[in-house]
Amino acid sequence: MQEKLTALLETARGELATAATPESVEQLRVKYLGKKGALSGILGGMGRLAPDERRALGEKANAAKAELETWLQEAAARGEAQALEAELNGPRLDVTLPGRRRAQGRRHPVSQTLEDICATFARLGFVVEQGPEIETDWYNFEALNMPADHPARDMQDTFYVDPTTVAGTGPVVLRTHTSGTQIRTMLRQKPPVRAVMPGRVYRKDSDQTHTPMFHQVEGLLVDEKVTFAELKGTLAAFATAFFGPATRTRFRPSFFPFTEPSAEVDVSCVFCRGAGCRVCKQTGWLEVLGSGMVHPNVFRHAGYDPAQVTGFAFGMGVERLAMLRYGIDDLRTMFENDYRFVAQF
Ligand code: PHE
Repeated sequence: MQEKLTALLETARGELATAATPESVEQLRVKYLGKKGALSGILGGMGRLAPDERRALGEKANAAKAELETWLQEAAARGEAQALEAELNGPRLDVTLPGRRRAQGRRHPVSQTLEDICATFARLGFVVEQGPEIETDWYNFEALNMPADHPARDMQDTFYVDPTTVAGTGPVVLRTHTSGTQIRTMLRQKPPVRAVMPGRVYRKDSDQTHTPMFHQVEGLLVDEKVTFAELKGTLAAFATAFFGPATRTRFRPSFFPFTEPSAEVDVSCVFCRGAGCRVCKQTGWLEVLGSGMVHPNVFRHAGYDPAQVTGFAFGMGVERLAMLRYGIDDLRTMFENDYRFVAQF
């Protein structure tokens, strides 16, 4: 047994001298000092020895155990030192490298523009009203004096949520403009009205300047004796506030079923200041919104008496105004959710 013990110490010393990792040191500890380890294996037969021999062997065994523990500790310390050394000799950490910047969210240019438009009209006394994006044919078309065969109802332009014609309301559509909210606003309150109505609108259209969803801001002002001069004054004031004090406005006769007379409003080109460039197609002018005096039939549908009140309405595309303001040339970039795009504004 003594020889066995000596032999065990011999091999253990060799193995521990080469153990380099904390895992291998632990494995050796289990192998030699564990409950079922080599040392217990040898001492298991101690009961059969004479008392003298047993004492002598006991002492030897204790000494062997102490020795093994010392070597294990040394091996563990060596392993740690080697690991540290390896780390120090490994690739260097360059603390002067710039860190990874966390991207900060920004407001989308459409949101910024929409808020700016509403804030500008708020200074002129307009409140904000809202209406649903899923709208009935009656609000979207009929109440706005659009006869059933009006081209705007063409399947090409309108998304139908439910094409079933329901008596009184007609089919259910995704609103093609925010003008239906004019009707809802008037039905909700008595005149006077002075409101802007922002929101999403939908049309079956997709190219460089059209997306199936876009945003509009509608405007409506109704009172006694409101004139076209007030329409012009209000929209000219908006144009200078939004595009800058040097901005000129131009009113061109136009047609909308829900306004009479109607006018399309141009502003002097924000890129060339009217000299003529690629963006304004050399005309010096940019079309920015549609407007007109509220049609008497619209008042009748909304429960207002056209003999008592007059008013004006207007509608503008938010993406278009944002494109003009920031010089963006493809509308679709607005909806790609590319952070690098949004971060520019
Ligand atoms: N609803 C019209 C459009 O989408 C714009 C408009 C609104 C015109 C109000 C006149 C009055 O083009």
